[in-house]
Amino acid sequence: MQSSFDKTPLLFKQVCVIGLGLIGASLAQAIKDNHLSERLVAVDRHLPSVDEAIKHGLLDAGSTRLTDVVAGSDLLIIAVPVQAVQAVFTDIKAAMDNGQLATDCIITDVCSTKVNIIEAAKSVFAALPTGFVPAHPIAGAENSGYHARRANLFVNHSVIICELTTTSSSAIAKLQQLWEAVGATVMPMAADHHDAILAHTSHLPHLLAFNLVEQLASHDDNLDMFRYAAGGFRDFTRIAASDPKMWHDIFFANERAIISALDEYGVYLQTMRQLIIDKDSTALMGLLGRAQAARRHFGHMLASTPYTDTSAMSASYNITPSNTVSGTITVPGDKSISHRSIMLGSLATGVTNVTGFLEGEDALATLQAFRDMGVSIEGPDKGRLTIHGVGMHGLKPSKTPLYMGNSGTSMRLLAGILAAQSFDSVLTGDTSLNKRPMERVAAPLRDMGAVIQSTGHDGTAPLSITGRDTVGQPLQGVEYDMPVASAQVKSCLLLAGLWANGTTTVIQPEVSRDHTERMLSAFGYPVTVDGNRISIEGGGTLTGGDIAVPADISSAAFFMVAAAISQGSELTLTQVGINPTRTGIIDILKLMNADISLNNETHVGGEPVADITIRSSNLQGIDIPEYLVPLAIDEFPVLFIAASCAQGRTVLTGAKELRVKESDRIAVMADGLQTLGIDCTVTEDGLIIEGKGSAGVGQSEVKNSQSVFGGGHITSHHDHRIAMSFAVASLRASKLITIEGVETVNTSFPGFAELANQVGMSIEVHDSRV
Ligand code: S3P
Repeated sequence: MQSSFDKTPLLFKQVCVIGLGLIGASLAQAIKDNHLSERLVAVDRHLPSVDEAIKHGLLDAGSTRLTDVVAGSDLLIIAVPVQAVQAVFTDIKAAMDNGQLATDCIITDVCSTKVNIIEAAKSVFAALPTGFVPAHPIAGAENSGYHARRANLFVNHSVIICELTTTSSSAIAKLQQLWEAVGATVMPMAADHHDAILAHTSHLPHLLAFNLVEQLASHDDNLDMFRYAAGGFRDFTRIAASDPKMWHDIFFANERAIISALDEYGVYLQTMRQLIIDKDSTALMGLLGRAQAARRHFGHMLASTPYTDTSAMSASYNITPSNTVSGTITVPGDKSISHRSIMLGSLATGVTNVTGFLEGEDALATLQAFRDMGVSIEGPDKGRLTIHGVGMHGLKPSKTPLYMGNSGTSMRLLAGILAAQSFDSVLTGDTSLNKRPMERVAAPLRDMGAVIQSTGHDGTAPLSITGRDTVGQPLQGVEYDMPVASAQVKSCLLLAGLWANGTTTVIQPEVSRDHTERMLSAFGYPVTVDGNRISIEGGGTLTGGDIAVPADISSAAFFMVAAAISQGSELTLTQVGINPTRTGIIDILKLMNADISLNNETHVGGEPVADITIRSSNLQGIDIPEYLVPLAIDEFPVLFIAASCAQGRTVLTGAKELRVKESDRIAVMADGLQTLGIDCTVTEDGLIIEGKGSAGVGQSEVKNSQSVFGGGHITSHHDHRIAMSFAVASLRASKLITIEGVETVNTSFPGFAELANQVGMSIEVHDSRV
């Protein structure tokens, strides 16, 4: 653990720890090691523990009685079993009454239940002391007692603090400082909420573990049972080795919440029992699949916490320059279409079979959200999914906030669907998503009568949506003139319009991707498109069917630019979606003189596809026509790499939207380009790049051999497309390029580095995630 000796001033004059069990002794050790208090004293019923702690130099004084050592303490930490807390409060009150303790000294505890601790304090003190701050570190171990203490027990663990109205803000701040100094993260929470949450997440699992061991131990053949018990039993019952007295106390102390959690558990158990008796294979598979996915999803949510702390977790690319790419490859499925296949498939009647589904984290976040709302979805298995649609009114409220990870599309489109549901919902995401503008969907949804709050700092997520049952009436169709050409905003409103009274019309200032319109039609839902006016009537139904997701042109774009900028290259990308609302990348590269051809054009699931072949090209700088911006909105990072390799200047305007993508793609790309030696100028709505390519004569004399980029260290700002774009730059770099923060590549392009290496690039992946 990092010592805060140099940084944290002494926080307290004298800390008194009451109870030298695992938690009390560990906290005492952490306070000692981090020099957080001038003096440290302790009280414990067990005299040998106190004597030993004094002998070890941990304590300045100790006793079995509070009154012997407590005088002058400015922090008291109660770390005794829950049921002994009231007696401790009585001793503390006596010490206050006789002047040993100041009435505003800080009193905290570490107990696993909170409501009863507050009740105990109320029964002792006429008015709760202003220094009383109930707390609970979510940390522990199966071993108990003074000898099991560990100064680093709390590092990277959460501590819940209950901020009572009676508590002074200085006491809360001081306690927070203490916990942070020993490595923990502090979270405020109301006491009753704490007890209900802990009943489910900690108390119930412990109860079940003890119970299962008891069940097996009481069988006559228990010796055989234990002898042959495998990993499942060991894993499930590990926590039954914890301190029985402590759990005995907790089960009584949190009786109400635990009984309610146990009753709910009983219902779930009965359901599963019945499914087995009924041999209901579909429902059982649905339940098991949902649970498995939820378990992985929670793992991911926990793993994604470090997005907030980039030093704690990062994957990086080390890329050695290479100079040519060749081959025939297939990139993964289209992200936009994958999202929509889950949404419409879930809302349809009947079964929808999806092939080519993108198993990237963004689309998986949408998938999990619909599972959380009770939809049974089998897969994904090599891009195949089977969605058992629940119909327009079949979604169920999720028991937890819907977690959208890094995915703006999931959050904005789901906001439209959820605004129309009967039940309340909360949508949240990772740190990057929770910074992106959400009022662009919330405001027009409100025009339709939605009750939706962007509860973040600045019109940002989490989004809290009130169900129609509470509002009392359905959404109302509106005509909305969109200020930006955003397919996400358009899709959000069209989806909300499925349940609205009357007609919902969206007018877009420029053409934006039309996958929602196409897929609605494919599911049999009429959509009227009149130029840039798109309308839908509420009240219809969707019919499930088969969806083949084409390869994503946004992922293909990295390889298109790779082949265009490098020497002697030829790449074919098979069955790529070439929906005309997505082909801005092809149009722009062609305007830059790229050698691109399309073959085997056909249609897959209502979307046009083709094989794209691209060869080394003498790229020319251009002024990018603004009407192409929405049609290539996700491809600009890699187009900037192409522009750097072109001869002459490339000017992008009208692209302010790039500033609110997964990162500010104008600023972040300009930074990286400058690091690699490119001259570029940031403007309010675009970028000017001075290309370093040299002229060739016609296509036959391609001069892509000189390096354009130097080497260097790039930060992707956890933006997948920034990371992949700079990887492509290595084809014209003179030295090693290192890219930090590439873990988000998995949001849209799992397997990118492997595929890039397969065609001739040289990317080494370092994964230092913990
Ligand atoms: C998307 C639309 C685009 C795009 C995003 C996916 C979609 O966003 O950038 O990656 O699937 O609808 P905007 O519509 O907000 O420009």
